[in-house]
Amino acid sequence: MIEQISGLREDAEKEIRLAQNKSELNAVRVKYLGKAGLLTQVLRGMREVSPEMRPKIGALVNEVRDSLEALFKEEESKFENLEMQQELSKSAIDITEPSKNSQRGALHPLSRVYETLIDTCVGLGFQVVDGPEVELDYYNFEALNVPKNHPARDMQDTFFVSDNILLRSQTSSVQARIMQKLKPPFKIISPGRVYRNDSDSTHSPVFHQLEGLVIDENVSMADLKAMLTALMRKTFGEETQIRFRPSFFPFTEPSVEVDVTCPICHGSGCRICKGTGFMELLGAGIVNPKVLEMGGIDSKKYRGFAFGFGVDRVAMVKDGIGDIRSMFRNDIRFLKQMK
Ligand code: PHE
Repeated sequence: MIEQISGLREDAEKEIRLAQNKSELNAVRVKYLGKAGLLTQVLRGMREVSPEMRPKIGALVNEVRDSLEALFKEEESKFENLEMQQELSKSAIDITEPSKNSQRGALHPLSRVYETLIDTCVGLGFQVVDGPEVELDYYNFEALNVPKNHPARDMQDTFFVSDNILLRSQTSSVQARIMQKLKPPFKIISPGRVYRNDSDSTHSPVFHQLEGLVIDENVSMADLKAMLTALMRKTFGEETQIRFRPSFFPFTEPSVEVDVTCPICHGSGCRICKGTGFMELLGAGIVNPKVLEMGGIDSKKYRGFAFGFGVDRVAMVKDGIGDIRSMFRNDIRFLKQMK
């Protein structure tokens, strides 16, 4: 009987291995372990076994049944895995396939210009700082050497919130704030929104500036020029030239306006630059010692240069945008053209 059981075990193991799929495997299970299965029948023959042999045979049959069950389970899970794999590969999605009507977004022209400018300045060692848009009169004007009732205030049509609070009309307000905060030497830029009561194709009540301020022991107009040349070349191309024209700002002395080779005609003269080959882009100068003193910086030891310019203007020139206000209307047709 023991031989019979071992024989069944071997046969069953062979057949399990030969099964090609789950249903064949199941048939083998029924054949050996089912109610009328071969192994079950062996147990029926126990009646003829001598009482002292019964426990031995019983234990053997149990062991064989358990090991066959384990084998069935193992094979079964192999088939299940295989099935799952096939199912998965059937419904696999190719994520690299382009979709039919994908709408790709794009950065706003202003964001693109800001990105280049800020990247370049960070590369030149500037630290980026921020300031409030709703500002105290003090930081926007007084600390920049523009006292109350001074005629220089007329240069900027300011929105006042109250007597002492306004919407900042220039990012230069950050200069005054940062001087109180940082110890020289330092180099900062401050990008951000500014507001003036003005609206036509080249003026918007809200627009964007980028301010730069460098404070150190020995800075000069030559440093300012070299810095701005590097920045403008990165922005408009390596052939770009800049030129200084004398000007006036209450917070810089001497002050200059900075022209840049017209990015449209590259200097030969066109409608946009009115035939001059240059475009006026920046205000700049050596920081007025009075401003340094008001900011708590020793003007005998330190000097500084500052510059500020309209970022919208740069975006308009680069992307050929005719009306500054179209950048803030959020008209999807305009934004689509700007991709
Ligand atoms: N804040 C000035 C303006 O808005 C520009 C400027 C900045 C000039 C820094 C000189 C130095 O017109």
